[in-house]
Amino acid sequence: MVGDVIDRCPTGIVGFDKICQGGFVRNSDNLIVGGPGSGKSTFLMQFLWNGVTMFQENGLYCSFEPDIVETLNDAMAYGWDFSKLSAEGKIKFMRFSPQTSIEELKSELTKMIASNQIKRICFDPISVLALSLSDKGKIRQVIFDLSSLMKRLKVTTVFVDESLEGEMGATSDGDWTKTDILRFLSDSVTVFYESGVAGVGDRAVRIAKMRRTAHERKAVGMNITSKGVEVLEAAGEVATESQ
Ligand SMILES: Nc1ncnc2c1ncn2[C@@H]1O[C@H](COP(=O)(O)OP(=O)(O)OP(=O)(O)O)[C@@H](O)[C@H]1O
Ligand SMILES: [Mg+2]
Repeated sequence: MVGDVIDRCPTGIVGFDKICQGGFVRNSDNLIVGGPGSGKSTFLMQFLWNGVTMFQENGLYCSFEPDIVETLNDAMAYGWDFSKLSAEGKIKFMRFSPQTSIEELKSELTKMIASNQIKRICFDPISVLALSLSDKGKIRQVIFDLSSLMKRLKVTTVFVDESLEGEMGATSDGDWTKTDILRFLSDSVTVFYESGVAGVGDRAVRIAKMRRTAHERKAVGMNITSKGVEVLEAAGEVATESQ
């Protein structure tokens, strides 16, 4: 089975890794899409926390939001005390303004990744950067540039896109949103929903695409608890390469 030979970057969120044959594909770039409060940042922090505590992989959290302290407080509420890991150089937090030039961003990231042996990187929310750019062509170029650099530096990337419209396609009036381009460029797209499916879970998650791997295609129940994101058992068998 192809899934067995592809190197993985497990999230450590058992239910999630199960629906995609072991986690994100290593060194790929992955997009999380979801509305406000759907659990995007929680998933990112859990991915980084598990990276260090379960897989000995250092992580970098890049925020385009004004207040990074708030993110750290949110993490603390889940029992993830990043301050110690941060002091040990295992998790780094960087804040960028949406106006940061792509060259500056790339140079800062390259330095940070090299000096801290970063293996996992998250951008929350990349749509803030994308929306500060003039047009779709520019967004494509900047995101492609950034993803290519991350791949060259051998890190697994997770981007958050907080745009909602159309989920995985055109909006009802036929327009593509400005950040939809992210969904085409990314190796995987995972959508977070604020309501459950068929009475299973308070919420749901669906992997809309993941290149180079078979994955569950239906929405799967999900909860957020005091321990973070929990992805519930999929109803059927996860598709395999041979199906
Ligand atoms: N201890 C907890 N138990 C249950 N649910 C919780 C708990 N802590 C937080 N939540 C839920 O998680 C949500 C926050 O999720 P998170 O901040 O990850 O969402 P987000 O998708 O990043 O949102 P935004 O787009 O606003 O940044 C809260 O709105 C709340 O519903
Ligand atoms: Mg968030």
